[in-house]
Amino acid sequence: MSLGKNFIVTFFGESHGECVGAIIYGCPAGLKFDEEFINQELKRRSPIDYMISTSRVEEDNVKVFSGVLNGYTTGAPICMAVYNRNVDSSVYEELRFKPRPGHADYPAYIKYAGFNDFRGGGIFSGRITAAYVLAGAVAKMVLKTLNIEVIAHTVEIAGIKAKPQGIEEIRRNIHSNIVRCADLDTAHLMIERIRKAMENGDSVGGVIECIALNIPIGLGDPPIDTLEGDIAKALFAIPAVKGVEFGLGFDFARIYGSECNDQFTVLNGKIVMKTNNCGGILGGISCGTPIVCRAVIKPTPSLRKPQKTVDLISMEETIIEVKGRHDVCIVPRAIPVVESMVSIVLVDHIIRLGLIKTVLK
Ligand SMILES: Cc1cc2nc3c(=O)[nH]c(=O)nc-3n(C[C@H](O)[C@H](O)[C@H](O)COP(=O)(O)O)c2cc1C
Repeated sequence: MSLGKNFIVTFFGESHGECVGAIIYGCPAGLKFDEEFINQELKRRSPIDYMISTSRVEEDNVKVFSGVLNGYTTGAPICMAVYNRNVDSSVYEELRFKPRPGHADYPAYIKYAGFNDFRGGGIFSGRITAAYVLAGAVAKMVLKTLNIEVIAHTVEIAGIKAKPQGIEEIRRNIHSNIVRCADLDTAHLMIERIRKAMENGDSVGGVIECIALNIPIGLGDPPIDTLEGDIAKALFAIPAVKGVEFGLGFDFARIYGSECNDQFTVLNGKIVMKTNNCGGILGGISCGTPIVCRAVIKPTPSLRKPQKTVDLISMEETIIEVKGRHDVCIVPRAIPVVESMVSIVLVDHIIRLGLIKTVLK
């Protein structure tokens, strides 16, 4: 459960265990440690509206165990956790031998021979992403010292696409609606679609776009530890992420090279690119333009709607209707999670490039 080489984050915990948390190795000393900011980030991940979200109330507050003294990081490993207080495992007893279609229950049962913590989905629960947000918040504190901003927003839900918005609109609008969409005309259509799915006992997915601004040139260690490869790996660690693309992404298959190449020019004595179709990365290395990536989130697997499965004990087909507390659409809650994973990878590569030393001054 570890990510990174120089800024190494190890995650731990299960959905219905004692806590979920993260240990960060390699965080520079002398970083002003803002616990309140971490709690704000956790709040952004908690259920947004009970019409579209789980009713599991997770009033998360970070508990810091090590690596911080008098409000500054010490350079020693930072260990942090959030406790799992609002837990109801009863429904999972029933599901234990009836794997939910679309969830990790079946492969996990086979891989771990039934020893896996099945309560609340164990390590496969969206709950683990609270730990991602803990480490992501620390990474954002580091990025702030370099004036780097990472911001994610919803660009599609249930087939409804947002119209492209400028960075100012994104900053201004994402917290003004429960789907975290900067296109306010489209946001209410997305909400309607989610509510409809909820009424039908169903779920929907969508696409999150993440933009990282003020990125120095040179991040990424090609050919293997490319910046896009490492970001993609981190994003695929988010449960329910099923696809990742950069810049024009899969649209590259639909246009000519002459249309998609980002052409160079000189502006105020600096070499700049006229467009950013590459999404800020060329050859696995950041090229100075904003990093733009998108992750597709599938519809939540747990549904009230009856679905076929197999009883693992009797080996007979059976029907399940998943009770309990589940998100109808994961997308809005995953926004700070996507920002967190991108931030963690950026800090790792910034330290690898030597742009940040062991002590921040
Ligand atoms: C923030 C967040 C919340 C989630 N909430 C739920 C949920 O309430 N019910 C559910 O079945 N899956 C939920 N998931 C998704 C599952 O954990 C995920 O689909 C499952 O582990 C299978 O993995 P895969 O979809 O990546 O293949 C959530 C994921 C995230 C990121």
